[in-house]
Amino acid sequence: METAILKNNSEIIDTIISNSPEETIEFGRKFAESLASGTVVALVGEMGSGKTTFVNGVCEGLKIEGSVSSPTFTLINEYYGVLPVYHFDFYRIADAADASEMGCEDYFYGDGVCLIEWPENVESIIPQKKIEVRFKNYFEQGFDTKRKIQIIRK
Ligand SMILES: Nc1ncnc2c1ncn2[C@@H]1O[C@H](COP(=O)(O)OP(=O)(O)OP(=O)(O)O)[C@@H](O)[C@H]1O
Ligand SMILES: [Mg+2]
Repeated sequence: METAILKNNSEIIDTIISNSPEETIEFGRKFAESLASGTVVALVGEMGSGKTTFVNGVCEGLKIEGSVSSPTFTLINEYYGVLPVYHFDFYRIADAADASEMGCEDYFYGDGVCLIEWPENVESIIPQKKIEVRFKNYFEQGFDTKRKIQIIRK
């Protein structure tokens, strides 16, 4: 466990290296244990860095039955387990106003757990208080299945 205070008062809670999708799922499963009702989780990382894979683990940890797929075209998937889970993918959204019109803030400030891919695309409406999960790949270094995953409390 690594804890460090960053400049803007956010705090690195954990950093891990994953070497396979299975390890990322397992990390997501463990991370789910720390989730409380109303938590917003921003998943930040390039395409294919493992955000949806991690969400699969989180959903397993929250005892959600059935398969979890990426809401690339539907924008939001809702699941009900130990807590309600709202999984967003804003890759294709035009801007924050569009997300706002769809009522996304009701979810962000509601009682479920929000797991948000591509939060950068709707940054102005994402709550300041959130957990950020950062994914880094090592494709350029020649490692196809290595990822760094950091949990940051904001
Ligand atoms: N260590 C790892 N952790 C997670 N995924 C991995 C890992 N190694 C390889 N992969 C592969 O990388 C891909 C990750 O895809 P995933 O859909 O989770 O990414 P994503 O960040 O959600 O991408 P997008 O931005 O397109 O939604 C999968 O094909 C997975 O099998
Ligand atoms: Mg994804």
